[in-house]
Amino acid sequence: MKEADRPKIKEILGLKDFGKDFLLKGWVRTKRGNKNIAFVALNDGSTINNIQVVIDVPAFDGEMVEKITTGACIAVSGTLVESMGKGQSVEIQAKDVEVYGAADPEVYPLQKKGHSMEFLREIAHLRPRTNTFGAVLRIRHHLAYGIHKYFNDNGFFYMHTPIITGSDAEGAGEMFRVSVLDPVNPPRTNDGEVDYTKDFFGKETNLTVSGQLEGELGAMALSKIYTFGPTFRAENSNTPRHLAEFWMVEPEMAFHEIDDNMDLAEDFLKYLIRYVMETCNEDLEFLQKMYDEELLGRLNFILDNDFERIVYTEAVEILENAGQKWEFPVSWGVDLQSEHERYLVEKHFNKPVIITDYPRDIKAFYMKQNDDGKTVRGMDVLFPRIGEIIGGSQREENYEKLESRIDEMGIPKKDLWWYLETRQFGTAPHAGFGLGFERLVLFLTGMSNIRDVIPFPRTPKNADF
Ligand code: 4AD
Ligand code: MG
Repeated sequence: MKEADRPKIKEILGLKDFGKDFLLKGWVRTKRGNKNIAFVALNDGSTINNIQVVIDVPAFDGEMVEKITTGACIAVSGTLVESMGKGQSVEIQAKDVEVYGAADPEVYPLQKKGHSMEFLREIAHLRPRTNTFGAVLRIRHHLAYGIHKYFNDNGFFYMHTPIITGSDAEGAGEMFRVSVLDPVNPPRTNDGEVDYTKDFFGKETNLTVSGQLEGELGAMALSKIYTFGPTFRAENSNTPRHLAEFWMVEPEMAFHEIDDNMDLAEDFLKYLIRYVMETCNEDLEFLQKMYDEELLGRLNFILDNDFERIVYTEAVEILENAGQKWEFPVSWGVDLQSEHERYLVEKHFNKPVIITDYPRDIKAFYMKQNDDGKTVRGMDVLFPRIGEIIGGSQREENYEKLESRIDEMGIPKKDLWWYLETRQFGTAPHAGFGLGFERLVLFLTGMSNIRDVIPFPRTPKNADF
């Protein structure tokens, strides 16, 4: 049998072909037993569940059996039999065992169960082998697949936007520089400034904070596109919801206005939650049992409720009258903090909330300006426990208005001439948003720190793996 055709543990656990032989390969989770019989819980990552392998110890080489310890990688061929034990319906009676790689119990860090999340972050190279990270990684995979499926089924095209850019999409200046210049002794201009014309691209370049601006160019040709790629922010936010490198999903749609944008965001999020509940049921139940007894209830709560849609001014009024002491005081014009967002979602409305029409001074230059001269058609989708999960807007499609906003905000126009040109040639009303992929994984898994839903988190002072 070809390796690719070999049934994985997930499949074998569902079979009733008793008496048939199978070849299993995987990592030992536990071994118990005695001189005569050993029970090995084997896992190959295809499912949260282990298969029990029964070894008739005297029939095997004793030294080899000794090497079968937690963490070891083994290949077992054996017969599928009905299990007498509790907790499983089938097991494998081993006929032949090969140890691919032992894991010395004296030093293997995942010897016992129940390690703290903090400790597991220090062994990010091994934590995929825990039940928790196996579940998180499978959910991440299915969520990513569901995202592509949703867009493909709804007429969107996947567009690959650049990682290295010469512009600052969000205008927030929180970017990682990309440069090959000698950091100690860079070439300098006559004014003593670093001379980026001598750099690799002949100009200053950075890692992208968002694929939106390039995504808009695609929407002005294909009508509906989405990007799904890594984005980078050099903001010094050491919180359980911020990463310096995270994945963002950004649909961009010609002819959609702010209400269409909200409709899409709500439908998209509900679809994805339903999709993961259907494809990852066992993993979700495991996470619910281990970490968060309200997990599935919270997911259903999103599916069962229409998202509340309010304008920023209304949100501020609610917060001002909440009778709460805020760490960050609220008044019209301030940016809402996580404590405010969560109050609106968890206490006031008790459902997901979409806030629109923010003060223009706290939002990016590209958002469509309202006629009141004070607000823009931005939108944030707020979730329980997470706060902002989506940020988006209708875009300013009017050339003059966009240009004057860029000037007002002191953004260098020479970096954005191509973006402005779309408003000169066949401009159209359009809108889009960005979903923080890890924030949705955080919500779906019930984990409490975003560092635990990405294989190798990048945060301030941490890029070890
Ligand atoms: O609200 P943001 O900054 O919006 C944009 O970047 C727009 N260009 C999107 C668009 O309209 N196409 O980011 C979008 C989302 C946030 O709502 C949040 O979920 C996530 O990205 N996000 C982060 N996730 C993890 N770590 C960070 N540091 C994040 N910053 C934003
Ligand atoms: Mg935002």
